[in-house]
Amino acid sequence: MAAQPTEDRTGRTGKPRVVLGVSGGIAAYKACELLRRLTESGHDVRVVPTAAALHFVGAPTWSALSGHPVSTEVWDDVHEVPHVRIGQEADLVVVAPATADLLAKAAHGLADDLLTNTLLTARCPVVFAPAMHTEMWEHPATAENVATLRRRGHLVIEPAVGRLTGTDTGKGRFPDPAEIFELCRRTLTRGTRPADLAGKHVVISAGGTREPLDPVRFLGNRSSGKQGYALARTAAARGARVTLLAANTALPDPAGVDVVPVGTAVQLREAVREAAAEADVVVMAAAVADFRPAHYATGKIKKQDGREPEPITLVRNPDILAETAADRPRPGQLVVGFAAETDDVLANGRAKLRRKGCDLLVVNEVGEHRTFGTEENEAVVLGADGTETPVPRGPKEDLADTVWDLVTARLT
Ligand code: CTP
Repeated sequence: MAAQPTEDRTGRTGKPRVVLGVSGGIAAYKACELLRRLTESGHDVRVVPTAAALHFVGAPTWSALSGHPVSTEVWDDVHEVPHVRIGQEADLVVVAPATADLLAKAAHGLADDLLTNTLLTARCPVVFAPAMHTEMWEHPATAENVATLRRRGHLVIEPAVGRLTGTDTGKGRFPDPAEIFELCRRTLTRGTRPADLAGKHVVISAGGTREPLDPVRFLGNRSSGKQGYALARTAAARGARVTLLAANTALPDPAGVDVVPVGTAVQLREAVREAAAEADVVVMAAAVADFRPAHYATGKIKKQDGREPEPITLVRNPDILAETAADRPRPGQLVVGFAAETDDVLANGRAKLRRKGCDLLVVNEVGEHRTFGTEENEAVVLGADGTETPVPRGPKEDLADTVWDLVTARLT
């Protein structure tokens, strides 16, 4: 979807203005894809690299892809006062990749080049996408700088875990540029509203559990995980620390989100228990199988000539949502459930809210071509306090943001 033109401070209308700051890390080459996505979706992007960034990707590339001149210092085109103007006119600044050095300068308000000057003059939301070796990310100096930037309301994305430069593997990897783009889009939509989930840890389950019958077969459901991923993406854009328990999904990891893969309902229960111990909010968006086969065949179940198949005996799975709501490890923890209903949607939803004991229940109607796997959703969010919030059909991110609005209003 193309970005909507906005009116800038001088009253001119135009495309949303994004400053892409690039500091000197190898992930600079991945920022080219972020730049493409931003420009192709209707944003006016000004790239401000540091001098070190140009060792990795040269000025002609940034200039050609953005359609704007590129400089690293404050001494070019001084009559246009770029060290002040670029930051002042921006609707969003995203620094990707942000090195440990750049984060340190930003945290301490240093301004020795065009990018750091821009960061001091920007009054719009600022997103940092750090990328560095694990040791640098975990160093107390970096950790304190990140905490300072977050305290000031900036969004510092948690780096991904994975292959780093060379043969190392660990935390510090630059997240998927497509996912950083999504986070920027969400942040632009929110404008200068505060990151109201900053300092909160949210745990979200997504996808659908699979209950194995034998090594090749399982009982499963049609949940794609898109609504849970939308919750994760929007929570990260609002500053939360996010743990996403992903049951059999095939979606890219949202930027800044800690993704834990799970398979069965029993595995999901364990993962929820572990993560919920430190969480402010638990959202059960996963479609959990209510039953699992009583017996698991270690070898593939074969047809027997002339014989009817053996019936499958099922046993109940734990109700993770009800358990979590009944046994909250932290006082004031909020628990949110989802209800997939095909008939008597609201009446069933109200009864389910009481039965499960959660604070909010997102009730949506499901069916062959509704909700599952689609990009849109429509729902009513029921509150244990009697509130009913209808959410009209729209992107799953919109429903997710309504859930976070209701959550933040209830968090003490
Ligand atoms: N849920 C859960 N554990 C289960 C089943 C469901 O935690 N064993 C959670 C889901 O993640 C969701 C909510 O409970 O947040 C409601 O799921 P739903 O399938 O609509 O309800 P069920 O409990 O399965 O009730 P019913 O089958 O009667 O509709």
